[in-house]
Amino acid sequence: MPIRVLGIESSCDETSLAVVEDGWKVLSNVVSSQIALHERFGGVVPEIASRAHIEAIGPLLTEALDRSGCRLQDLDAISTTFAPGLQGALLVGLMTAKGLAWGLDVPLVGVHHLAAHIWANRMTHRDLPLPFLCLLVSGGHTEVVRVDGPEHFRSLARTRDDAVGEAYDKTARLLGLGYPGGPAIDRLATEGNPEAIAFPRASLADGLDMSFSGLKTAVRRLAERHVQAGMPIPIADVAASFQRAIVDVLADRMEKLADREGIEVLAVAGGVAANRELRTRLAALAESRGWTFVAPPIDLCTDNAAMIAGLGTELFRAGRVASLDLAAASRYPLDALAPT
Ligand code: KG4
Ligand code: ZN
Repeated sequence: MPIRVLGIESSCDETSLAVVEDGWKVLSNVVSSQIALHERFGGVVPEIASRAHIEAIGPLLTEALDRSGCRLQDLDAISTTFAPGLQGALLVGLMTAKGLAWGLDVPLVGVHHLAAHIWANRMTHRDLPLPFLCLLVSGGHTEVVRVDGPEHFRSLARTRDDAVGEAYDKTARLLGLGYPGGPAIDRLATEGNPEAIAFPRASLADGLDMSFSGLKTAVRRLAERHVQAGMPIPIADVAASFQRAIVDVLADRMEKLADREGIEVLAVAGGVAANRELRTRLAALAESRGWTFVAPPIDLCTDNAAMIAGLGTELFRAGRVASLDLAAASRYPLDALAPT
């Protein structure tokens, strides 16, 4: 009998519901983005996000079921993001999941949003060997994670300040490119010279952690100098050089940590995993070292519920089901298992 699990995601500015079979076959994955609601504020407004999730979640549940060809009674478990994210936003998905699990009398599975982003690699490359090393890069997180199984994620290095996506978004705002900034800079970078400006590549003396706030400041100073001198900001060159500096640091950390851990399988996850230069560079690194590199398809890189149901299925299989007391947590360590 196939296992069918519903996934619910509402941790930030996307409401998503999905039905996944046997942990990898995506029967439906519907996503409603709130970007248009938050755009004019230049970032996600938590109260607006919570309200929009409440309005979207019911119709999306119906749509996800319709598209999957499943009825509520066909579901074996309900999985939902319980952390990390915006507390009010998380609660909308979590309460919906609890109501469904209780009403249908099926298990509730709490899924860590970041672990699910990472697991999207194993969902789409089912023969991916374990352990693998995953670069997790999103709007709120930048870390290198060792994955030994669906219940075993260990963070090996992280940013000390800005997340990469945050650096992209702030820099894009400074350059007048709008929100979200990642895709805009990614596009513009193809028109500029990545070696035009020598932006700093912060190397922290003690270990393999990363820092991106200095880079952001360097872009701001450069922009200010141009404005003061009455010169136009060479935005394509800035975008290309900024992106090169980031990709250099990320690829360097992946290579060093893979060597240290003796791991020859690389993966990438999170919203910034959509970045073309980053993907190309990691693929080239893997090729030059005789390693493997995989990345999820773009629709499983951005926030979605299929990845929640994918990892949720593995946790369900392992018996890691949650009680109906499961609480939402705005922060929660990736290394810790979800409470049961
Ligand atoms: O994982 P995600 O969808 O949301 C969370 O942060 O959880 O990541 C969103 C981030 C934003 O900062 C956005 O600017 C960035 O991912 N992003 C990109 C690209 N597409 C999205 N950054 C660089 N290049 C891209 N192509
Ligand atoms: Zn995310």
